[in-house]
Amino acid sequence: VSYIKKLKFSNFRNLSNINVDFKNNFVCFYGKNAQGKTNILESIFLLANLKSFRSSNTIDFLKRGSEFSKVEAVLEDNISKYSVCFNLDKNGKRTFFLDNKKLKSIKNIINRLMIVSYTPDTYNLIIGEDSKRRKFLDKIIFSLDSKYLEELINYNKVLKNRNVSLKEGKNFHIWDDLLIKYALIISSKRFKIVEIIKKDLKRLYKKFFENSSIDIVYKPSLGFTKIEALSKLKKQNKKDKIYGFSSLGIHRDKIEILVNKQEAKREISTGQAKLISFILKILKIEKIREFSGKNPIFIYDDVNVFLDESRLFKLLEIIKEKDIQIIASSVDNSLFKSLFSDSVQLITVSEGSLINE
Ligand SMILES: Nc1ncnc2c1ncn2[C@@H]1O[C@H](COP(=O)(O)OP(=O)(O)OP(=O)(O)O)[C@@H](O)[C@H]1O
Ligand SMILES: [Mg+2]
Repeated sequence: VSYIKKLKFSNFRNLSNINVDFKNNFVCFYGKNAQGKTNILESIFLLANLKSFRSSNTIDFLKRGSEFSKVEAVLEDNISKYSVCFNLDKNGKRTFFLDNKKLKSIKNIINRLMIVSYTPDTYNLIIGEDSKRRKFLDKIIFSLDSKYLEELINYNKVLKNRNVSLKEGKNFHIWDDLLIKYALIISSKRFKIVEIIKKDLKRLYKKFFENSSIDIVYKPSLGFTKIEALSKLKKQNKKDKIYGFSSLGIHRDKIEILVNKQEAKREISTGQAKLISFILKILKIEKIREFSGKNPIFIYDDVNVFLDESRLFKLLEIIKEKDIQIIASSVDNSLFKSLFSDSVQLITVSEGSLINE
């Protein structure tokens, strides 16, 4: 069980010098638009994932006009207290520290701090490309299966070799067996996790939409058996040669969300998509906990931009029951005051500075 106890910033985006103590496991940064709320949440995400949820350009983190940028979090779990820190200089050089010791490999910091985030564009998980849903499933599988990452890497290597052979007009069939071997391993794991999630997705969805049904269906591009996979690959040979690319494989797997038996992304409303994607994030928290025994921290940017009060309350109650740390941002604080007056620590963000309430 990890909790952030303290957060420090220097020159991170519009935040100059901030030092904040979290007195509660439910913290909400509140403030008007463009004050720095999302920047704060982004910095926490960065400490855990070594990248941002919005910008891929590291140098963007540096407060304009400053020489360096620094973010540090002090964390506490059942047995220890430790700190993770990110430094960035004006040349774009990033350094990570664990307990003030410079990390040689960033692998050492990954998994120390696990974050599940919900941001305003998370609903793309429902209405966006299948790749988004594949990534979502894969991340859950990582937390229960230590071999899975390697299997995905191996698959991608074989795929790359096969594609090179296709492009160069060489014999690409020599890669078929391996491609299928890894594809089938990965498909069976993806299938299993979808079956596990399915029940919980239905259960949670019913709490919000009583008269509607939901399902999640996994459709592996190569099927489930070697015979099926071989014949599918064969049918595609001509096309693949023309395009110089393997058009089938787990990189093309479909994961469909069905609402009232219709493919969700084709017909649901934005609000529905947001709620379903939120439920998927809750399931991610549940599964990570169940499988890895670790408690992720939940980051929730822009609370209440799509739900009515009773639904939002229900949603927050569901996450709060999980007994994890929730770090949220909102442009509205009255709601928090009325719903969670005793249990939320409200911190006002104004022009890159903080005011504790
Ligand atoms: N590198 C940077 N240097 C200085 N300021 C920056 C930098 N990057 C972003 N900002 C500024 O930080 C401000 C706050 O951004 P942020 O996304 O945190 O706002 P917010 O409080 O979440 O607002 P909203 O309610 O609109 O989502 C923005 O106005 C942006 O211009
Ligand atoms: Mg914001």
